[in-house]
Amino acid sequence: MEEVEGNPTGVRSADLLKLYLSNPVAGKAYRRFFRARGFRSPARLWYTARMIRPATEADAHALRALSAGTGFFNALEIETLDGVLADYFATNRDECGHRCFVLEDGGVRGYVYFAPEEMTDRTWYVWWIAVAADQQGRGFGKQLMAYAETEARANGCRLLVVETSDTAKYEPTRAFYLKSGYTAAATVPHFYADNDGMAIFTKRLA
Ligand SMILES: CC(C)(COP(=O)(O)OP(=O)(O)OC[C@H]1O[C@@H](n2cnc3c(N)ncnc32)[C@H](O)[C@@H]1OP(=O)(O)O)[C@@H](O)C(=O)NCCC(=O)NCCS
Repeated sequence: MEEVEGNPTGVRSADLLKLYLSNPVAGKAYRRFFRARGFRSPARLWYTARMIRPATEADAHALRALSAGTGFFNALEIETLDGVLADYFATNRDECGHRCFVLEDGGVRGYVYFAPEEMTDRTWYVWWIAVAADQQGRGFGKQLMAYAETEARANGCRLLVVETSDTAKYEPTRAFYLKSGYTAAATVPHFYADNDGMAIFTKRLA
């Protein structure tokens, strides 16, 4: 698990809170430490904790609801997501390089799913990335993407590819990829349907 903000000790804030409640002496020392750094109390620390961690089967429902709630995935895509997550949790697809991470900030706020592309030389694909509709624009997507890139690179990825629709509705998504340092590599007109083409973005990681 990696905590991405709010805790300079490397000790998970949930554990700190437990420690604070169970061991008054150690708890007091921690409280002093955090107060000196601007946190009012371990409880406040709990609420400000943000972390990116591997998805577990218990997250599947939240990921589905979050994806559907963005309004950017159609019924078929949500059904496909269900199947992919079911496979991922049932068959330990980590072994084939598949990865799914969630960002938590007082609840699951977003996730990214990525995997090596078969029959390529170290090309990986971001299959899904989404942030809850009411949490967008807070930097969560960028953190998830950066995390995926670090993980993919550590596992040998040379080129990361992500695709989306070229329609006006997906202009914010395309802007997000460009802002995240991706290059608009190609479009395939009418790929998904008539007048709904595929926009392909890439980023070299090695
Ligand atoms: C695309 C998505 C994952 C981005 O996540 P997010 O948390 O909203 O994005 P962030 O807040 O991390 O933004 C990162 C950067 O992208 C830019 N960006 C995000 N949304 C943008 C928008 N609507 N228009 C222009 N730029 C945008 C931000 O300004 C930011 O740039 P900065 O670092 O220079 O400030 C999220 O909006 C989402 O889930 N959208 C719906 C689902 C989707 O389209 N997923 C991709 C499927 S193909």
